[in-house]
Amino acid sequence: VPTTRILDDVDELLAVLSTADRHTDSIVGGDVIDVLSHSLQCAAVLRQHCPMDVELHLGGLVHDIGHLLVPGDADGHGRHGADAVRELLGDRVADLVELHVPAKRYLVTTDPAYRESLSRGSTHTLALQGGPLSPGEVRAFEAHPQAEAALRLRRADEAAKVPGRSVPGLGTWRPALQLLAG
Ligand SMILES: [Fe+2]
Repeated sequence: VPTTRILDDVDELLAVLSTADRHTDSIVGGDVIDVLSHSLQCAAVLRQHCPMDVELHLGGLVHDIGHLLVPGDADGHGRHGADAVRELLGDRVADLVELHVPAKRYLVTTDPAYRESLSRGSTHTLALQGGPLSPGEVRAFEAHPQAEAALRLRRADEAAKVPGRSVPGLGTWRPALQLLAG
């Protein structure tokens, strides 16, 4: 079982994320956007929708970091990302990172419009991630304290795949990251 590297400080986290502009295949399938642009768009969308929830913004920023830390294990990327940031950014951000994968399966199961709107790449990875949830799994997901925020992150995730969209750069997130890590 592959395990991730634990990120010790904000500099290390930013260094990992800064390499994400070279990863386009991590999102898998037909989504032609690099992981850095995607992550920055996701954080920006969440800041726009929920301006006061900085942890949610940062969850969006780091939600796919597992792809970078453990390349080739798309299946486990939510868990790897959560493990990597839990100590540094806290349980809530880590839970959001982990839950963004089952959140997709939850929305596919419960919201036909969401399923319809999934990008080509996201539909492809859905099968690998286990497809729709069983009724018991749906109830278990809903019972998690961060379920609602995780669904927000997931919808932002899908909206954050616009090639060439201009959003604030990685460095603009440093103060918020440092404050939370502090
Ligand atoms: Fe994503």
